Amino acid sequence: MPLVPLAQVLEEASKGGYGVGAFNVNNMEQIQAIFKAAQENRSPVIIQASRGALKYTNLTYLKHLINAAAEENPNLPIVVHLDHGTVEAAKTAISLGFTSVMIDGSHLPFEDNIRVTREVVEYAHAHGVSVEAELGTLGGIEEDIQGEVQLTDPAQAEEFVERTGCDALAVAIGTSHGAYKFKSKPKLAWDLITEIRRRTNVPLVMHGASSVPQDLVATINRYGGRLEDTFGVPIESIQAAIRLGISKINVDTDIRLAATAAVRRVFAEEPEKFDPREYMGPAREAMAEIVGLRMQQFGCAGHAQDYTPKTLEDYRRFYAEQGR
Ligand code: G3H
Ligand code: 13P
Ligand code: ZN
Repeated sequence: MPLVPLAQVLEEASKGGYGVGAFNVNNMEQIQAIFKAAQENRSPVIIQASRGALKYTNLTYLKHLINAAAEENPNLPIVVHLDHGTVEAAKTAISLGFTSVMIDGSHLPFEDNIRVTREVVEYAHAHGVSVEAELGTLGGIEEDIQGEVQLTDPAQAEEFVERTGCDALAVAIGTSHGAYKFKSKPKLAWDLITEIRRRTNVPLVMHGASSVPQDLVATINRYGGRLEDTFGVPIESIQAAIRLGISKINVDTDIRLAATAAVRRVFAEEPEKFDPREYMGPAREAMAEIVGLRMQQFGCAGHAQDYTPKTLEDYRRFYAEQGR
């Protein structure tokens, strides 16, 4: 199966009423872990690389690692996506063969966000590549929640989608990036998801969707780590958000926690070990386990075979016909 655009996977997910996990990657073990989980769960795959990941892997390594994964897994629909991109990074990612890019203009004034997003949409759609954009800034919606926030305004979202022609919209509904999201069980802005979904016709994206499993935090701390008390987004909240119209769910922190817990356990329990395979191997297993669990919980498990894959050329023609 060729790499497919994000637009196709999210269209299938919206029709099927399930969410698709989008998992961040920076190295070979993470990529292998995600594909192991996807094979075991017959799930479509969205792997995404941040600008930090592109820098860390020096582009060429990442491109070849992803191509290796695609070659090894010809039976899965695979989206290769740029996470939190700029105009420049989006063009670079498209030249590397990514099938989807995010342009993150969420920190810009509304009109500037529309301008940069429109620029990326025109460039990406001419290549058949999908575009995720963002409106609003991530953070919490209660006083005891950490981080700054500007929840997405539904009327602005309607105008934004209409004027930019983006394929998916990341919305700020009370989540935030990283391990320190909430000091207690969170409350998300459910009414916003419903209202934005009613006013726009694009699939919605939840960033900052790690659940920060308490057992992983405890394991890390038991074996010498120093993480503070923290809460992530409960799985039931993500499942409720999927029912309301969230289709893509971004997870990075949970994978980092799983890897760190596994490596710390080996270092603490088997201090004589020094072969990287003896701690990176368990880290890879732990990452595959949490990714597989998320695929089941988000509902994308079992859906890999639903797809008749579409190519970037199919989408290039579709956008040209639609004038998008
Ligand atoms: O949204 C951010 C992702 O977790 C990527 O993080 O910029 O550290 O690679 P990064
Ligand atoms: P987490 O930090 O909650 O895993 O969010 C990742 C993310 O949103 C990547 O874009
Ligand atoms: Zn994000």
